[in-house]
Amino acid sequence: MCGIVGYIGGADATPILLDGLRRLEYRGYDSSGLAVADEESWGVRKSVGRIQELTRAVVEEPLSGRRGISHTRWATHGAVTRENAHPHLDQSGRLALVHNGVIENYQHLRRQMPDHVFESETDSEVLVHRIGWHLVQLGEVTSETLVEAVRRALREAQGTYGIAVIHQDVPDLLLGARRGSPLILGVGEGENLLASDVSALVNHTRDVVYLNDFEVVLAGSEGFRIESLVGAGTGYEIRTVDGDVEEVSRGDYPHFMLKEIHEQAATVRDAIRGRLSIEEATANLGGLNMSLGQLREIERVVLIGCGSAYHAALIGEYIFEKLACLPVEAEVASEFRYRNTPMGKDTLTFVISQSGETADTLAALRESQRKGHRTLGICNNVASTIARESDGGVYMHAGTEVGVAATKSFTSQVTILTLIALLMGRIRHMSSSEGLRILRELEQLPEKVERVLAMNAHLPEVAAKYAPSPGMLFMGRQFQYPVALEAALKLKEVSYMFCSGHPAAELKHGVIALISPELPSVFIAPHDALFEKNAGNIQEVRARRGPVIAVGTEGGDALMSLADDILWVPDAPDYLLPVLTVIPLQLLAYHIAVARGCDVDKPRNLAKSVTVE
Ligand code: AGP
Repeated sequence: MCGIVGYIGGADATPILLDGLRRLEYRGYDSSGLAVADEESWGVRKSVGRIQELTRAVVEEPLSGRRGISHTRWATHGAVTRENAHPHLDQSGRLALVHNGVIENYQHLRRQMPDHVFESETDSEVLVHRIGWHLVQLGEVTSETLVEAVRRALREAQGTYGIAVIHQDVPDLLLGARRGSPLILGVGEGENLLASDVSALVNHTRDVVYLNDFEVVLAGSEGFRIESLVGAGTGYEIRTVDGDVEEVSRGDYPHFMLKEIHEQAATVRDAIRGRLSIEEATANLGGLNMSLGQLREIERVVLIGCGSAYHAALIGEYIFEKLACLPVEAEVASEFRYRNTPMGKDTLTFVISQSGETADTLAALRESQRKGHRTLGICNNVASTIARESDGGVYMHAGTEVGVAATKSFTSQVTILTLIALLMGRIRHMSSSEGLRILRELEQLPEKVERVLAMNAHLPEVAAKYAPSPGMLFMGRQFQYPVALEAALKLKEVSYMFCSGHPAAELKHGVIALISPELPSVFIAPHDALFEKNAGNIQEVRARRGPVIAVGTEGGDALMSLADDILWVPDAPDYLLPVLTVIPLQLLAYHIAVARGCDVDKPRNLAKSVTVE
């Protein structure tokens, strides 16, 4: 996902654009650039690497002007080079564009302009050339012809876009448009801004308009107009950004990922805050927008997500079966959207997404709604597209998650799925005493999270011991199997180590062929009814001289004679234990990545939210 910032007004755009990009850098950070214009001046600066490289380029070769566009890139088409960085210019060199999304028919459009010379390999450059081509057909360059050229090019384009455009010869116009990639207008006093995320705007204004698909915004320094490409009305609404979209800082932590891991006692507390009804022994979830009668008619639940959100959905499968006794299935969003999953009218769909902008999850939401199913969102970003298009849902209230690796959002998702399953159980078969017992366990969860963080001070040494390993296997049973998948994802995405997660009993069905003294295995082995089974698996690995790290709960002392290293967590019911067992494995991934010198918060090739398919 890329970051876009645009500005038009009475101030110098350059520092505003750079500040906005710094706030969006977590969205993508391969390369960045800006184009700035005034009556007399027109300049473009681009650089590979972090925003600080672009800042350096601007210091070396200053540019200023009262309108501008800027971009921080996560490469989709074309390598990470200066030429492929945005903004891109059209054939005339006087029209600049930044783009977030994928133009799927860009090769076709490129072939329509055989005499054009392209500097990059990107789909985005083809789009700006296409706009410039239409501008030439329209004869002269005015704000009206520029808008018409943009309209025509966007109607030809297939795929997704969030764009910002300026033209050297159209002084009082900053143009934006969106289809499938978020774009927000910041409405200021004597100035207007565009951004792909509200965090880049709040320093200037908290009055914003969230553009919808097929809308085009024409912003001047005084005022703006929003049109629809498809002729629909655009009853836009100026909303005020509430809450603390604060400048997220690392505080005393060396990385956002470590800070966010340590925030989890607070974020789990925020996930349950105000949602436990002791007197009714159930969960209060008004945001579902469903009556108890409507919820009682539900006979099947589908949980959809990508990456860590999918792993939370997998845990949700076990939780709903146990607490709600409902048929439930977890689906990878990119698979669900193309499958033809038979879904009766009594099916309730949840889409899970921290960012609320993941393209495949958004597409799955729309596919579920297209088939007439009520579709609820479990999101962290309250202004996101998924949050706005869902029929209701439950917010995570986890605060901005900057680290690309999902940590606090994952444990919030699992906690919220437990609340929903509790509610669904209590309107069916579950007794009030059972409901009350679950509530008490939920009330104790934040304190147990704190204890996990305190119980594993030895983690950095364990990480240092295994950091040189070529890979790592993760195994668990039942509620802990998805935790094994999540732990494998965490380690691979921040340390670039090959990892995989498996149901522990699958060890004998092929995985054991990998066991060697060089390849460590992690077993999540709580002291529960399956402890002996897990102990047997550990012994099978040890018999082949495979190193073993175990995650154990109080009472599982037998692990001491089985595993090389143990990470401990407090005991809890099986449906809450994943919130605890994942934490030492998040820390293991973090410390191994640091030991391997990896960029923990901005791992190579990744972005915080994948808004392209
Ligand atoms: C998890 O650590 C990754 N960053 C990634 O798998 C992520 O969970 C996935 O892209 C889904 O993101 P979302 O929750 O914002 O939809």
